[in-house]
Amino acid sequence: MSTPLDLQGRHIVLGLSGGIACYKAAELTRELVKAGATVQVVMTEAATQFITPVTMQALSNRPVALSQWDAREPNNMAHINLSREADAILIAPASADFIARLVQGRADELLSLLCLARPIDRCPLLVAPAMNREMWAHPATQRNVAQLRADGATVLGPGAGDQACGEIGDGRMLEAEELRDELIAFFRPKLLAGRTLLVTAGPTFEAIDPVRGITNHSSGKMGFAIARAAAEAGADVTLVAGPVHLPTPRHVRRIDVQSAQQMFDAVLPLAARHQLFVATAAVADWRPMNAADQKIKKDGSGRVPVLQMTENPDILASVARLPEDRRPWCVGFAAESENLVRHARDKLRRKGVPLVVGNIGPATFGQDHNTLVLVDEAGETTLPEGPKLHLARELVREIARRSSPKTT
Ligand code: C5P
Repeated sequence: MSTPLDLQGRHIVLGLSGGIACYKAAELTRELVKAGATVQVVMTEAATQFITPVTMQALSNRPVALSQWDAREPNNMAHINLSREADAILIAPASADFIARLVQGRADELLSLLCLARPIDRCPLLVAPAMNREMWAHPATQRNVAQLRADGATVLGPGAGDQACGEIGDGRMLEAEELRDELIAFFRPKLLAGRTLLVTAGPTFEAIDPVRGITNHSSGKMGFAIARAAAEAGADVTLVAGPVHLPTPRHVRRIDVQSAQQMFDAVLPLAARHQLFVATAAVADWRPMNAADQKIKKDGSGRVPVLQMTENPDILASVARLPEDRRPWCVGFAAESENLVRHARDKLRRKGVPLVVGNIGPATFGQDHNTLVLVDEAGETTLPEGPKLHLARELVREIARRSSPKTT
């Protein structure tokens, strides 16, 4: 998921070195442009063996830079011009050879030359390695990657899985959407750097028998957006998710559960090890007292089964009651159908938490947009309607401000 303006106003130099993963650079260019960036593609001679500059020019809407000897640059200094304009340089794919060149500070072709010539504190370098698993595992490459990091570059991936050579292992370049999200995250302010955040998301499923159960319409989108926004802000994030069909945000640790009791059992021990807790999950209030072992059958008599219900443990309230030295700073959610502020304020008191975020459940469940009302002791703040990811980032900003170690 990206929202249209995530890279608005960013100028990215996208460098391609030689590798089969060049085919992913076409999609990556489209993703970056769709997210609002301008993209200047630079290709090594080897990269042009894998994908043509024609394709890359069409997708980036700019002529591709190929040589430091290109006489069309008025000052004949392509390497200086390109690196001075860029908000970041992203090398994708970065071959083993190209990484070695970066580490050595080589400058005998345009791409390595412009990386060397970039103003190092103003123009970050991000590198997405792509190579066969043996090349990646080789001590020379590992040494080079460690040195590249030590020199200030950010290394993205690589991923693991099937490789073009038919082998399986580490060394695949991250997918275009993953690299786009890495770049978006890279530019986000690190408001939660060094902090740990636990978040619950989605509905719970309370079994009636092996094939039926009670659940609700929560899609998990808001909680997953909060997990992503917190990770983008530099937090170490654990996400406990009910049954939802959503991909795990990058760099987020995910634990899947079904029932409220399972969510409670997963969250309570983790809560004491996290500094922040955001309870976004729409946890079922009740569950059938005894789930049947076998499917409950109609017996033809017209009689309907009567479900005996029992109350689920309140996860948020239990976390909020932990002893102070083990209690994270807690945020509750209130999904209401009416009287949002009154219910949210009531929840603030009842659960004993410093912040409750209200939203209208039926209007937001399953949607990509939402409106939030933040309710605390001091008053109410409305975050106006917007994409859930934008709201999640705003909420993270509010959480960072209110829970900062100075004020707690
Ligand atoms: O109790 P109620 O559902 O009104 O409050 C909602 C808030 O409490 C949400 O933050 C929800 O995640 C949390 N909650 C919980 N465990 C429950 C019920 C709600 O953590 N059993």
